Amino acid sequence: MSLTVALSKGKLLQGTEALWRRAGLAFPEAEGRKLVVAMDGLRFLFVKDQDVPTYVEYGVADCGVAGRDVLLEAGSDVYEPLDLGFGRCRLVVARPAGSGLEYRRAASLRVATKYPRIASGHFLGRGVSAEIVKLSGSVEIAPGLGLADCIVDVVETGRTLVENGLEPVEDVAHSTARFIVNRASYHAQREAVSRLLATLQKAVA
Ligand code: PRP
Repeated sequence: MSLTVALSKGKLLQGTEALWRRAGLAFPEAEGRKLVVAMDGLRFLFVKDQDVPTYVEYGVADCGVAGRDVLLEAGSDVYEPLDLGFGRCRLVVARPAGSGLEYRRAASLRVATKYPRIASGHFLGRGVSAEIVKLSGSVEIAPGLGLADCIVDVVETGRTLVENGLEPVEDVAHSTARFIVNRASYHAQREAVSRLLATLQKAVA
């Protein structure tokens, strides 16, 4: 039986395609806008980053590729058998550069983020009561516009922080792309899943 694989249309797509090709597997051409593509015994679903764990957890996809950041935020019940090594980034708390903001001492703290679950856990763990403002993107503009005192967001090159007048103050988590598998598929489709997993494992840089 063929496997359905949920992949991100976002930043992880390039690394995923490179991995697939290194592994000698066919991969749909980038120009296409078809979001469900069957090819060489696999069916690919191209979805938003945050939705990959959902498709896998609900069993619509047998497996997928998702960032650890997205997996931590989703808290999905899926197997995570392989670190794919690419998509390396970190989640940080960042504040306006030069502000000297010490959030542990702030009387009140508002935090803008795409990662409300991770952010509230982080501040709770430090005994800080923070109001979390959920955004869908462009989080770095929130402090400058008065929406938040600081942010929790992903940093890859650090360029977005710098260009928007922010500086990192604390690491929250580190992330890379992970191969994830639906729990039922892991058993019901053991042979196909193991074969794909072994093929990808050999190609991990
Ligand atoms: C991500 C992240 C940062 C940026 C970090 O945003 O949320 O904004 O990339 O990358 P850098 O450290 O290399 O500058 P994304 O591009 O996914 O867009 P978004 O703001 O719309 O979420």
